[in-house]
Amino acid sequence: MSSTELTESAGPPPGDSGQSSATPTRRTFIATTTAVGGAVVAGGLIAGTSLVDAQEAAAADAVPSSRVSLTVNGTRRTVTVDNRTSLLDLLREHLGLTGSKKGCNAGACGACTVLVDGERVNSCLTLAVRLDGAEITTIEGLAEDDRLHPLQQAFIDQDAFQCGYCTPGQILSGVGCIQEGHTGSPEEIREWMSGNICRCGCYVKIVRAVEQTAPRK
Ligand code: FES
Ligand code: FES
Repeated sequence: MSSTELTESAGPPPGDSGQSSATPTRRTFIATTTAVGGAVVAGGLIAGTSLVDAQEAAAADAVPSSRVSLTVNGTRRTVTVDNRTSLLDLLREHLGLTGSKKGCNAGACGACTVLVDGERVNSCLTLAVRLDGAEITTIEGLAEDDRLHPLQQAFIDQDAFQCGYCTPGQILSGVGCIQEGHTGSPEEIREWMSGNICRCGCYVKIVRAVEQTAPRK
């Protein structure tokens, strides 16, 4: 073998990096793996998104719901609701009774107070599906025809509200307070009405309205 032949077979051809076309260079290796890797990642994301979407759709379809029958202000109402629905949302959003107000939606303000079987409750914390067969009284059910409930009238007489947002809850709570007999003194009324917040600060007049309505002891 001549020295010329050795040089040609051992050395790279002009313009080549020294590797045959079947052997990837470092640059082509990185470019290829990046592209393939990207496709795999993208494919994984797409597949993952589809999977999540399908799972969410299935979960949404599977939201448990129940039929519940309640007597609201003397009228029997039957509705099918998501099991997580609060009594407050059932009243406001399913039955259109928006007199009960949503303040904190967490049991801290009393704006949502209604009577359930005669007992005052925070309707925002009460699951509707647990009340099948219950009797509910809201502010819309207190008056008789055009005649206000005595406590509603007392709130007017005593000027016991400003913005009025807390008032339906105050009145339902006051009705409960009177039925429970916690009206022996202004202090007692204040104590037993303390779960109902009035941001306008009408507390003195609210207590007077409850006093005006409570039977004399
Ligand atoms: S809205 Fe129910 S306690 Fe505030
Ligand atoms: S009257 Fe406004 S919050 Fe009570």
